[in-house]
Amino acid sequence: MISITMKLKDMKLKNFRLANPMAKNIVALVAAVLALAPPAMAEGVTSGDAAAGQQKAATCAACHGMDGNSVNPQWPSLAGQHASYIADTLAAFKAGTRSDVLMNAQAMILPDADLADVAAYFAAQSPTQRTADPALAEAGERIYRGGDMENEVSACMACHGPTGRGNAPAGYPSLTGQHSVYTAKQLNDYKSGARTSDGDQQIMRNIAANLSAEQIEAVAAYIQGLR
Ligand code: HEC
Ligand code: HEC
Repeated sequence: MISITMKLKDMKLKNFRLANPMAKNIVALVAAVLALAPPAMAEGVTSGDAAAGQQKAATCAACHGMDGNSVNPQWPSLAGQHASYIADTLAAFKAGTRSDVLMNAQAMILPDADLADVAAYFAAQSPTQRTADPALAEAGERIYRGGDMENEVSACMACHGPTGRGNAPAGYPSLTGQHSVYTAKQLNDYKSGARTSDGDQQIMRNIAANLSAEQIEAVAAYIQGLR
């Protein structure tokens, strides 16, 4: 939806003058389409069917929990994650642009046609509230909210939001309440270059590269307590 809108806007600017009646029609059409779009689409969320997704997610439940809240801290919770991020991530595991022994195999057997439904199902679940290790929470909060200027680490909050909910249209995943063990592993994987799913811009690899081992533990602990 967003890319179509952008293209129409580009066409308007490049190929038409505003006086051109066709340009006016296109502007009206875009406005009409945007007005009709349900909120989920306006937020950039894939249009999956959560009810259909529940059955298709049965095999995922063994690790990620029936309701998307995993028990093992090495397995990420998916409950409340943005559907667009889940679907994109599953496609990355399928294509091998994100690697994990367990998940590559799981994604491979999931038909392309089911990605959106499974993503919609997990996105619709409520994340379990967890708590942060009090010994690490304060140091973690400083990094999350203020970054580390000296070492050129941006505040996590700038993209992932004050409560960790992220931003679906921008592609910033939700971190709220995620297991600290999983989060620390991801930050270490970005730091070592083992995780490259942040694409050409390398947003997360550049940030994680400047985090110390202690800072990774602290910010991961703080994120686990976000709600
Ligand atoms: C055998 C356990 C297992 C099963 C079954 C499993 N997963 Fe996973 N999943 C994992 C692990 C472990 C990770 C973390 C990989 C890593 O460290 O990068 C993961 C990561 C993910 C992620 C990335 C989460 C994030 O925040 O980036 C998604 C999405 C996901 N799994 C979806 C699914 C879906 C959908 C299914 C069912 C088709 C499924 N998984 C089945 C173990 C499993
Ligand atoms: C400029 C925006 C931006 C900032 C600032 C930022 N992030 Fe991210 N973050 C992203 C994007 C984009 C992704 C998704 C990348 C991908 O798909 O691999 C991401 C992914 C992540 C993930 C993986 C989530 C998952 O479910 O696997 C973690 C963990 C994370 N960020 C933590 C942090 C922490 C901690 C900080 C602060 C030290 C931070 N981020 C700062 C944009 C940002």
